[in-house]
Amino acid sequence: MKPLFITATDTDIGKTYVCAGLAHSLKKLDIDVGIMKPFACGIKQKTGFSSNDLTILANAAMVDDDETIINPFFFPVPASPYTAAKNLGVKIDIAHVMECFRKLDKIHDIILVEGIGGIMTPILKDYAIIDLIKDLDANTIIVTSSKIGTVNHTVLTSNICKNMNIPIKGLIINNFDSTGYPIPELERDLSALTDLPVLCSLPHMKKFDLSKYSDLIQEKVDISTLVS
Ligand SMILES: Nc1ncnc2c1ncn2[C@@H]1O[C@H](COP(=O)(O)OP(=O)(O)O)[C@@H](O)[C@H]1O
Ligand SMILES: [Mg+2]
Repeated sequence: MKPLFITATDTDIGKTYVCAGLAHSLKKLDIDVGIMKPFACGIKQKTGFSSNDLTILANAAMVDDDETIINPFFFPVPASPYTAAKNLGVKIDIAHVMECFRKLDKIHDIILVEGIGGIMTPILKDYAIIDLIKDLDANTIIVTSSKIGTVNHTVLTSNICKNMNIPIKGLIINNFDSTGYPIPELERDLSALTDLPVLCSLPHMKKFDLSKYSDLIQEKVDISTLVS
């Protein structure tokens, strides 16, 4: 099955939560889901995976694949991979990322890949997340918020994906701050402006409950249409 790449209009929009919710939903359909976050940047966790995103994703997919394969590049710096690698003097090797992906793809039915930041987040000088999506030949979901400003970010993201012929399954609105656009209004306008389906809108949650989150996704999205 083609990998499903979870990107977003920005960082801290809900990629990890949505990816975890989708992984949990796919597992309920008896699909063997693998997860991957090729690049993670930020404060290193004291125990377990270096990145908390990997802890959430591996727990949702119930996988015990090696950290070096599911997260080949971790930088303990809150920055883009490009900037972090420059600052730390590390060379990023895309071929290595692809090799890790192929290993995971051999042992699972589908790989959910979480991006980092948005689609133009730079990895190398002339290589951004969008190029990685292309190399992985992945279907994509764009996670967006309901914050004022999201319309601009969503249209930009959608247009760039379309220009690069990236197949987009749809948008997911993650209402993580609950102070922005009324959701029905936003669903109406984002689908009209981008010509993309809004797969679902997820409510604000005080405390992340994976099972509830995945139930909400499953109620609204025909999960089988996301795997092909
Ligand atoms: N539906 C939600 N309701 C409430 N808070 C959320 C929700 N989704 C995400 N968050 C909050 O936003 C933060 C960023 O979400 P995350 O999935 O880590 O974003 P990203 O992976 O895009 O950086 C989370 O740590 C959490 O605190
Ligand atoms: Mg994340």
